Amino acid sequence: MTSTDSPTHRPGRLDGKVALITGAARGQGEAEARLFAAEGAQVVLADVLDAEGEAVAADIGERARYVHLDVSQEDDWAAAIAATEEVGPLSVLVNNAAILRFTSIADTTLEEYLQVIMVNQVGTFLGMRSAIEPMTRSGGGSIVNISSIDGIGSKNSLVAYSSSKGAIRSMTKTAALELGQHRIRVNSVHPGGVFTPMNGDISKKMLDAAHSQLALQRSAMPEEIAAMVLFLASDEASYCTGGEFVVDGGWLAGDINPFLPGAPPAPARA
Ligand SMILES: NC(=O)c1ccc[n+]([C@@H]2O[C@H](COP(=O)([O-])OP(=O)(O)OC[C@H]3O[C@@H](n4cnc5c(N)ncnc54)[C@H](O)[C@@H]3O)[C@@H](O)[C@H]2O)c1
Repeated sequence: MTSTDSPTHRPGRLDGKVALITGAARGQGEAEARLFAAEGAQVVLADVLDAEGEAVAADIGERARYVHLDVSQEDDWAAAIAATEEVGPLSVLVNNAAILRFTSIADTTLEEYLQVIMVNQVGTFLGMRSAIEPMTRSGGGSIVNISSIDGIGSKNSLVAYSSSKGAIRSMTKTAALELGQHRIRVNSVHPGGVFTPMNGDISKKMLDAAHSQLALQRSAMPEEIAAMVLFLASDEASYCTGGEFVVDGGWLAGDINPFLPGAPPAPARA
């Protein structure tokens, strides 16, 4: 009896899929890689942090491999797609890699602005463009672009980051319209605050405290974003394309006002 014949075997939600995930050496990309592999996908992890990425792929095991990919570099994309196709026909691309910089508009140099745009925005464009031909050849697929709540709203200091994330939100819709004919679905995910290295060297408790005004009164763990990305990558999302999928603990719904009726009791908000 093989493991798949076992009466306790549950089919994976991504059985038979080959997924390329950018920025997968840590944070949300790592969580997605681990979840995708657990759900039956063959996963190619891509990043510029080679030692970390190799280590995560090795830890996942035979369902994973690592490839170096700077998403802002056109030539790197050709090599990463080729490496993925050695594993099998590309069916899922998660454009997750990004960088975050905090600078006021007045103090942002053109170089600093373009650095963020090149990774977050141009990287996503290059990724989508690179996936069209192999996904079309394999009969379709799913592209998941990681934007942010800052691609819908913004904050002071996020001129470059919000520009890039807003562009990802928009180009996702362009891509959905162009690629539906090839059975390629394209959606954007908009996380709120997530406990990853992107938020700096602070504890989960401190990050939760900074999110205590939200409906769910805490920040997210990367696995909570990965669950949405898994859904969009899978065939369960067969009628979802061009959509914006917010995973933000209620951030965009508004803030709890502790002075008005209906607010949770103060201790729960500590
Ligand atoms: N953490 C949050 O609070 C938060 C909130 C909203 C959206 N997001 C988005 O979620 C995604 C994942 O972020 P995270 O929180 O896991 O951050 P992270 O910093 O932990 O991970 C980002 C990964 O991208 C990689 N990367 C950076 N530049 C790259 C490049 N040029 N080529 C390839 N890889 C590159 C990094 O090495 C890193 O492994 C990003 O798109 C981010 O903008 C994060």
